[in-house]
Parts: sequence; structure tokens; C-alpha cells
Amino acid sequence: MSGERVLFLGDIVGEPGRTAVTTTLPSLIERHSPDLVIANGENVAGGLGITPRTADKLYAAGIDVLTTGNHVFRHREMYELLDSSDRIVRPANYLESNPGRGHIVVEKGGVRWGIVNLSGNVFMQAAHSPFHVADRILAQLRGDADYVFVDFHAEATSEKVAMGWHLDGRALAVVGTHTHVPTADGRVLPGGTAFISDVGMTGARGGVIGVRKEQILERFMTQMPVKFDTATEDVWIMAVLVETGEHGLARSIEQIMVPAEPA
Ligand SMILES: [Fe+2]
Ligand SMILES: [Fe+2]
Repeated sequence: MSGERVLFLGDIVGEPGRTAVTTTLPSLIERHSPDLVIANGENVAGGLGITPRTADKLYAAGIDVLTTGNHVFRHREMYELLDSSDRIVRPANYLESNPGRGHIVVEKGGVRWGIVNLSGNVFMQAAHSPFHVADRILAQLRGDADYVFVDFHAEATSEKVAMGWHLDGRALAVVGTHTHVPTADGRVLPGGTAFISDVGMTGARGGVIGVRKEQILERFMTQMPVKFDTATEDVWIMAVLVETGEHGLARSIEQIMVPAEPA
């Protein structure tokens, strides 16, 4: 088994991000013919969190699986779906008592895709070490998944690079999310795992990591509380395309960044 392609979209931010997925994902799918489409959905509902309605819109647009991150529990109406759905994951190293699950296996086109979501612990709060939890989940998935794709939702590039090395040779891909800023270090590591520190976001480049730039600047200039709204200018899709090789590992990782097509 090899030669499959996975398209992964960075954090989809608010309505502009959702619309970008609706208008632009079909042509990306046509151009790259991915076997699986994954996206980070932690910011789809008003810029923070996710709801059943917004998740449905993304599934309808062609996304197979959603990963999340630190904003996942923002909307209570999502908790039941997190518990019952086998198409969405939240960080696996959160408390066991939290809603949802941290890893799933999705069967598509005769391939068993293991999807793992982890949260960083540097400048963020997670109950358990992502490194130890990753070890445990990879051991569990052995034999159950043909490929394991990891979304490491983390702030610090050091922690993300370290996770890449930790899982090199044991996962198809380790991709970073959360900062909303894409990094230029995408590569297949020597052991065969595709890695990038951060995929970036599916959202407005005309703001500050998805928020209206005027409001963020006011906050920095006045150091007073400011209400934040989702930025709408210059929306792009930032993603990576990972091609599979032998033994559950990667042949290539390619960064894809395109402006959203008009609605
Ligand atoms: Fe995010
Ligand atoms: Fe985040």
C-alpha cells in the first residue's frame, strides 16, 4: 500500500474560513485528488470553537475528518457530537473525563487511516504529556491502522519539532497547528515521517492570526480589553498534501497555499 494522498487544512477560522472551504476545496480536491481530507476545525464557529451545524457544513464541503485544539469545548452543544462522532477528534492528552476522543480510525477507499490529535504543553494547558500519550496511542493503533496522521496542536516550535523527531519512523505525518502562521520547514524526516511545524490557517491574512487587525492593534496600543471579531480580508487556504510511501510512512509533503475563490 502506497501512493495515497492526504490533504490537511490548517485551522479554519470563522465564517470567512468556512466560506473559503466551500468555494475553494472542490477545486483543490479536483487538482490533487486526495484520498482523505482532514482539517483543523477548532476555530470554525465565530472564530472560537465548533458547533454541530458548522461541522456539518465542513463535511458537506468534502472534509472527511476534523481535528481540533484548545478551543474545542467552547460550545456546549458540541459535547454530545464529540462523544458520538467517529469523524472528529480532540486532543488525546486532555483529561479522560472530557468529552470526545483523541484518536480514531477512519476507513476510506480500503485504507484504514488512524487520526491522532495532541495538544502541546508549552504555553498551553494539557492534562498529560503529549509525548507519552503519543507512545501509548501508537502502540494501540498498531495493526488497526495502515497510516497514522498526527495533528499536534501546539504553540512552541521547539515542542513541535521535538514531536516530529519523537514520532519519526512511527507515523505517516506529524503536522503542527494552532499558531495560524505557516512555517517553511515541511519535509520528510530521515525515518520517513512527513513533518511541518505549522500548517497555517484557512482564514483571513488581512488580520492578525484571524482577528481584525484594527482591534488587535488597539489592544497592543492601549493595553485595555478589546472585543475581537473575525477578520475577513484576503482569505487564503493554507494546507499540506502528504503522499504515502511504503510501510505506513511518507514519500513527500507539499505545502499548498491558495487564495480563496470568491463566493
Ligand atoms: Fe486555531
Ligand atoms: Fe488553538
